[in-house]
Amino acid sequence: MRRLQYLVFAVVFFGFAGGGMFAEGAAADRFYRVVGGKADARTYNGYRRYNAGCNHCHGPDGIGSSFASSLVDRPLAIEEFRRVVRNGRSSGGTSVMKAFGNDPNFAPYIDDIYAYLQARAEGALGRGRPERLEP
Ligand code: HEC
Repeated sequence: MRRLQYLVFAVVFFGFAGGGMFAEGAAADRFYRVVGGKADARTYNGYRRYNAGCNHCHGPDGIGSSFASSLVDRPLAIEEFRRVVRNGRSSGGTSVMKAFGNDPNFAPYIDDIYAYLQARAEGALGRGRPERLEP
């Protein structure tokens, strides 16, 4: 009987706690942390890097352009994302995704860019420049 009570308690408690955690983006497979609409350092850096090297093909804020697809509509898993950004890709069309694996301005920050795009994809960040959590 006590076990059942505990189980009910656990489900209710973790149900609520989990909901709160998700809202703030603290889940394990979540790369970003956004609290009150403000982005953590990694996510903010991702925003900056995205706008330095990806936006002119993938559109402002990841929404896509006639040149390359949106990166927020159907997000890739992190492994696939890293692979494509490091190695580039071409499906035979006229536009090509270039490889960033040897670019010191991007290669170390691929996960940061992923964090930013993930926050956009999950609705934690809207369009435009996010506010920063840390100064
Ligand atoms: C010169 C234009 C260009 C730039 C700059 C560019 N991309 Fe791409 N990207 C493309 C094109 C075109 C594709 C589609 C390639 C294909 O498969 O034919 C693509 C594909 C991708 C994909 C795979 C998308 C999917 O749904 O399969 C990812 C992820 C990606 N790019 C991320 C990035 C990131 C991150 C940056 C910046 C560091 C970036 N791209 C910069 C043109 C570009």
